Amino acid sequence: MDKIVILDFGSQYTQLISRKIRELGVYTEILPYNKPVFDENTKGLILSGSPYSVYENDAPIVDQSIFSKGLPVLGICYGMQLIAHFFGGKVSKAHKSEYGFATLEVVKPSKLLEGMDKTVVWMSHGDRLEKLPEGFEAIARTSNSPFAAIENLSKKIWAVQFHPEVYHTQKGKQLLSNFVLDICKAKANWNMENFLAQQIETIRKTVKDKRVIGAISGGVDSTVTAAILSKAIGDQFVGVFVNNGLLRKNEIEYVLNALNKLKINVRYEDAENLFLDRLKGVIDPEQKRKIIGHTFIDVFKRIAEDYKDAEFLAQGTLYPDVIESTSVKGPSATIKSHHNVGGLPKDLKFKLIEPLRFLFKDEVRKLGKTLGIDDEFINRHPFPGPGLAIRIIGEITKEKLDILREADAIVVEEIKKANLYNDLWQAFAVLLPVSSVGVMGDKRTYENVVAIRIIESVDGMTADWAKIPYEVLNNISTRIINEVKSINRVVYDISSKPPSTIEWE
Ligand code: XMP
Repeated sequence: MDKIVILDFGSQYTQLISRKIRELGVYTEILPYNKPVFDENTKGLILSGSPYSVYENDAPIVDQSIFSKGLPVLGICYGMQLIAHFFGGKVSKAHKSEYGFATLEVVKPSKLLEGMDKTVVWMSHGDRLEKLPEGFEAIARTSNSPFAAIENLSKKIWAVQFHPEVYHTQKGKQLLSNFVLDICKAKANWNMENFLAQQIETIRKTVKDKRVIGAISGGVDSTVTAAILSKAIGDQFVGVFVNNGLLRKNEIEYVLNALNKLKINVRYEDAENLFLDRLKGVIDPEQKRKIIGHTFIDVFKRIAEDYKDAEFLAQGTLYPDVIESTSVKGPSATIKSHHNVGGLPKDLKFKLIEPLRFLFKDEVRKLGKTLGIDDEFINRHPFPGPGLAIRIIGEITKEKLDILREADAIVVEEIKKANLYNDLWQAFAVLLPVSSVGVMGDKRTYENVVAIRIIESVDGMTADWAKIPYEVLNNISTRIINEVKSINRVVYDISSKPPSTIEWE
């Protein structure tokens, strides 16, 4: 399969370049800047941005030999400055850093900028190109950057100061398409049907007649992983689904039913008592997380004993985690998702199978559809590994869990009824260790408070509280107070992340 290699110099946008190109149907690989590897399928090379300046002592510098492979090269932002640095241009600090919109003016027709004249582009840089590198010509300018885009046709090198990969660059996708499809002539044959067929073949060849075991949480990643494995090797795959007692209302039936429809060979384990026993009296959130993580591993290990012939462990690791674990960190590069509860330790002595390790989340969802998983399941909100344990502030008991399950189910039901579910990142209830006075009928009550958390977010890293219509909030509140025993007050959490976090613990 044709591919475009993206060398990563630590920009926060590197994954975005990759995703935009994959949306064009071309496979991409992100490699650390100091480990460029090309093969006969590599049709072009992109040098990413970076938080560094080329003149800093520890700036990431690539081996110059990458320019003599005959591959078309596109430098973006820092990538452009690197190219200038190698070919005798001059880069210096701009009088003022340029962040934000600029209008691109094409000064020389170029294949790269076909269809881009007078469009808005997004700039984000402190350095800028002052003198053109040898053999290069300017192809576009902005009011602040005389060399906003340059090219060297004989060397097949292009570079832009702005960011074509970000949403704010109006025709950024056009530029990437011009580069990838017209200049590199990469074939657009990256799609989930091809990917699935290829994965199934690889899995069959790797596994042969051995057994594969894997944990299923009920989330999209582990379910898609299990579905691929089942499609490839049928009942040689065993998917372990553990009830830790901290799941939502009706979750067990819902997940088992979905797995059943996908014909996944499931080993269901009810470990509720073990988890709740070990959590007795525990209040500290990190302690809760640790206990839940360790207990899960204990349960999984015990089950794995029953499958002596299991040689492989399937995991739903995604591409962003793979990139994160191999990438070279820049000064600001560690903006990262966290917590891998459900992660299994290395000493399990299984060989790993990770069919999703080259996919982004949106691709996993598409793959899920290709595998026949229904939309409702694919579009489920994220649910934390430690489950309701981190939504009960203070000690966890079965009784509190049951109360929270009821309240939480009402939140989700009402949000779905109002047609808001798919626009939200998460919507849930939190049980507070607070009692407040109320009045029901003619009687004084002294009962629990539930907080409602409804969040909009793109990646969970930053988040905003959702401006839900009052009517919907009212329905949620009324129903919880009327229907859930021992709740007499509902409050709405109006804190954003940062400085708050999404979960209360
Ligand atoms: P926070 O609370 O850190 O959450 O803003 C960000 C996202 O991560 C989820 N989350 C977790 N997921 N194990 C998980 O698997 C955890 O310990 C955990 N804590 C938070 C949270 O639901 C949100 O989507």
